Amino acid sequence: MCVGLGAVATTFIAGVFAVRKGLAAPIGSVTQMGTIRLGKRTEGRAPLVKDFVPLADLNDIVFGGWDIFEDNCYESAMHAGVLDDRLLEQIKPEMAAIKPWKAVFDRQYVKRLDGPNVKKGKNKRDLAEQLREDIRNFKKEHNLSRLVMIWCGSTEIFLTETPAHQSLEAFEQGLEANDPSIPSSMIYTYAALMEGVPYANGAPNLSVDVPVMMELAQKKQVPICGKDFKTGQTLIKTVIAPGLKARLLGVKGWYSTNILGNRDGEVLDDPESFKTKEESKKSVLDYILQPDLYPALYKDICHVVRINYYPPRGDNKEGWDNIDLVGWLGYPMQLKINFLCRDSILAAPIVLDLVIFLDLAKRAGWGGIQEWLSFFFKSPMHAKGLYPEHDLFIQSMKLKNTLRYLKGEDLITHLGAEYYD
Ligand SMILES: NC(=O)c1ccc[n+]([C@@H]2O[C@H](COP(=O)([O-])OP(=O)(O)OC[C@H]3O[C@@H](n4cnc5c(N)ncnc54)[C@H](O)[C@@H]3O)[C@@H](O)[C@H]2O)c1
Repeated sequence: MCVGLGAVATTFIAGVFAVRKGLAAPIGSVTQMGTIRLGKRTEGRAPLVKDFVPLADLNDIVFGGWDIFEDNCYESAMHAGVLDDRLLEQIKPEMAAIKPWKAVFDRQYVKRLDGPNVKKGKNKRDLAEQLREDIRNFKKEHNLSRLVMIWCGSTEIFLTETPAHQSLEAFEQGLEANDPSIPSSMIYTYAALMEGVPYANGAPNLSVDVPVMMELAQKKQVPICGKDFKTGQTLIKTVIAPGLKARLLGVKGWYSTNILGNRDGEVLDDPESFKTKEESKKSVLDYILQPDLYPALYKDICHVVRINYYPPRGDNKEGWDNIDLVGWLGYPMQLKINFLCRDSILAAPIVLDLVIFLDLAKRAGWGGIQEWLSFFFKSPMHAKGLYPEHDLFIQSMKLKNTLRYLKGEDLITHLGAEYYD
């Protein structure tokens, strides 16, 4: 179940249909194309991830979701303009059959958006109950054995924790009383967890990242993860920054700017939604570069992130990075990166992998935050008292070691050949 059937969600759904029909390859998906090395290097064992752990098959997935617009998935994908018409024509019946359920939505939390397909209710608790009913109906109607919910909806305004987020009792009272610190995304999260459905948060919204949801996820043994898909510029940042740190090259400044013309760009043009995104994008460097450990190299970095809404580009985002480096004896250098990427093309395989891995986690009995899925997020959720892991290579190792652990295989530590291979 996707909350929001916009550019990312329809590119994901269309992609699964296209792959099922043999029209295209699931490039970028760890679950579909990744391999995993097992045992010593001399053993030559590297099965596909999907042959190693028991994952749901693409042919068994049924899609549903909510949106504030009434467009079916075919119409929404055409509007998003990510995939070409020829591909969409070949999967039109499947796409057109997915019609959004009425959404829980309040303009207070996404200022640049409004639509007609919205639920009415006596209070937020009533809206949550309606979502729970949607979930149960979907399950019954399609005779489904397992469900996963993923937030592919818009970025909400910046919010911080309040007393209403601290316990289940306080939260449920807040729902009754229409507490303004409970945005739409949290109502979905609550509904999912109450129904025992794993939840992934693809936007930087607070949503599942508050104590009450952690409590609920633990209590009900439901896996959760977030936040904010790690796609374009941040993906590259978390590839480059660990490399600079490994070589002990200093960084004085990192200026990142983007132009983006899709609906996401339009929503992020509102300063309050942008602040939520900015917080998510900016924390990355601090954690990777560890200025506390390396003050001479990384203290007081000037890190600037900008997103400019520029309609002519549609979903084809262009990101520029300028990095001011410092080398041996303090000599300055510069690195420029120009990434002409496609936002939803990068996000779609992440949605697929998260859905499939969350389903695996649920069957493995793992409740609460799934840190091993940090690989997919800009601001990975983490246990209280720990810091998030942002380095893409450590995240990848953690993900694969978790799968090895699940199957009782030796973890790979990369110790030298003379000790352990
Ligand atoms: N594409 C990427 O690379 C990327 C990366 C990280 C995060 N994200 C996040 O993913 C989300 C989706 O991105 P997108 O490009 O598909 O945007 P989009 O605007 O095309 O789609 C979002 C959809 O969600 C719907 N929506 C908003 N609030 C809703 C609600 N309360 N209930 C139901 N539907 C709701 C909107 O009507 C819209 O159709 C955004 O929050 C974006 O910031 C995208």
